[in-house]
This record gives sequence, C-alpha cells and structure tokens, in this order.
Amino acid sequence: MKSIMKAVRPASLQFVSRTIATRSLPSIRSQLPLPRYNCLRPASSLSPAVLSVARRSTLGSNSRHYTTGHISGPGAPRPPKDNKLKAWPFILIFVTGAVAFAAVLENRKDKPKPMPPTDTSKSLPKLRDDGPVFSPDDVKVIFVLGGPGVGKGTQCANLVKDYHFVHLSAGDLLREERTRSGTEYGELIETYIKEGKIVPMEVTIVLLENAMKKSIEAGKHKFLIDGFPRQMDQALKFEEVVVPSQFTLFFDCDEETMTKRITERGKTSGRSDDNPESMLKRFRTFNETSMPVVNYFDGQKKVVKVDGAKSVDAVYADVKAHIADRLK
Ligand code: C5P
Ligand code: MG
Repeated sequence: MKSIMKAVRPASLQFVSRTIATRSLPSIRSQLPLPRYNCLRPASSLSPAVLSVARRSTLGSNSRHYTTGHISGPGAPRPPKDNKLKAWPFILIFVTGAVAFAAVLENRKDKPKPMPPTDTSKSLPKLRDDGPVFSPDDVKVIFVLGGPGVGKGTQCANLVKDYHFVHLSAGDLLREERTRSGTEYGELIETYIKEGKIVPMEVTIVLLENAMKKSIEAGKHKFLIDGFPRQMDQALKFEEVVVPSQFTLFFDCDEETMTKRITERGKTSGRSDDNPESMLKRFRTFNETSMPVVNYFDGQKKVVKVDGAKSVDAVYADVKAHIADRLK
C-alpha cells in the first residue's frame, strides 16, 4: 500500500517509485537493481518504457483514490465544471416565481375589493311580506335621485323649508346607524360606503321604515326620501312592504360638475367616501345600479327630471316650476 501511495505523487516531480515500475512490467524488471524498494530515482535515469508504465499507473491511482483536487498537474482530478449549469434551474424558478407574484399583485390593484361574505344575509333584518305597512292615501313619499354630489340634500332642505316635508336621507341614516352603539351593522355599512356599493336593502329599508313611523306618530305624513332607492331590489321591496311612492324627482348632471362639488364638500365633510377613489366607484355604481331604477319609474311616467348642473337657486326654481302642482 505504501508503495502505491508513493506512486501517485505528481508526475511533475519527475520521480516515480521503482516498486510500481517493477510490479507493473515484469519484462523490464531486469533493468532495475533489485531489491532496493522504496528508493526514488530521477525519472531521467529510467527508460521511456518504464516511465510510460509508471505514468499510467500514477493516473490510475489518482482516479481511484483522490477526488478532492489536492493534486495539480495532468493527473489531478478536474474541478467540477458544471456548478453554473446546476444553479440555472433554481435561478429560473426564482425569476419565474417573482414575475408571477408581481403580476398577481398588479392584477389585484384594479379589482374592486370583495364585499363582506354574502352569508351575512342570515343576520340581516327580516322584512315583512304581508303588503305595505302604510297606505299611499295617508302617507306621501317622493323619491329623490341623482348622482353623487348632484345636490339632492341641498334641494331637499329647500323643499322642507317651503313645503314642510320630512327629509329622510338614506345615506345619513346609514351613517348614523354605522356609529350607533350596539349596532350589528357598523362594519358592514362602512365597507359598503367606502367602496361606493349599495348596502343590502334589508338594512336600509328597516332604517327608513322606523324613521317614518316616528314622524307619522308625530303627525307628519309627507316624506322626501333622498338617495333611495339606489338599486332595483330596494325600489320593488320598499313599494311592496312600506308604501308605493308618488313619483321620483331626478336631478340630472354631468360627472365633471359633480366631481367639483364633491371635491369642495370633501374639504369639510369628513365623509370616508368623499375622496377621488371612492368617488369613481360611486359614479360607476350610480350608472350601473341606480340609473335602471330611474328608467324603471320613467317607464311608469313617475319621473320628474330637473337639470341639476345649474346654480342652487336656478335648480330650485326649476324644481318648484315642475312640481308645484303636485306638492299641494
Ligand atoms: O346618498 P349618499 O351619497 O349620502 O350615500 C352615501 C352612500 O351610502 C352610498 O354611496 C352608498 O354606499 C350608501 N347608500 C346605500 N343605499 C342607499 C343610499 C346610500 O347603500 N339607498
Ligand atoms: Mg346626500
């Protein structure tokens, strides 16, 4: 074994072990003075045949016993060349994953936030289904509709002053309920309002019905219901279980004017939806969800349309001119 280890010394040293030479090639054994094992001789003193056998033997030994690259020279093991190649699949997987993750994030930005789970309907107030609670002969309801910021509240205040209506704003009632202590619906209402979505009708109809009952008990029977119905299900259900409306006062206006008004109001209103992001969502909801209600009542000849883009006074003058005979 010792002699084999000596034989694997680097060829560059130009020495070989005579022992290996003599074992490997019996035919040239006679060239070597025997028995002088383990002594080293300069390679130059050996014949080419001996050298060739010794080199082959050295290479063979290296490949059998050394794998760590301690030895340099032609017989030394090669350093692993394919390190870079092996890293490629991992780099590729990492880069692909990072790109896919960034794409998912980008995609989520544009998507509207999901609304609270629909199974909240289990805990929503139950609406009666035994016909309207009030008679349209006793209780007069005018719906007031128009895009966000069109000035519904302002015009209702004028009508209250001059014609003694009770003004009920669905939005105001929802905001009040949102902060009432002990309410179950605070979080739900806030989420819908911020997203510019329509709160489930059960919540809004119960709030309106309760407010109407209080006023009726106090002897007031004429109502302006502002910002309601904002969705077809609200329109149908309210007329079915509360009272059929007289007509709908609809304020028509372009989005540019409404945007300016909301931006101005947003400086002092403290409303969580008077900001550019919520405003866009509210415009979309109005066009997609509330306009069908206006069209539905228009089909029944129950819409009075007024240009809401004019000044407050000019709009109010138009309102009075259009509906004076129906307000008495
Ligand atoms: O009418 P107002 O702009 O105050 O309404 C504010 C918000 O209240 C609406 O954007 C909507 O989220 C909610 N709302 C509703 N259903 C209504 C009226 C208002 O969900 N009938
Ligand atoms: Mg309002």
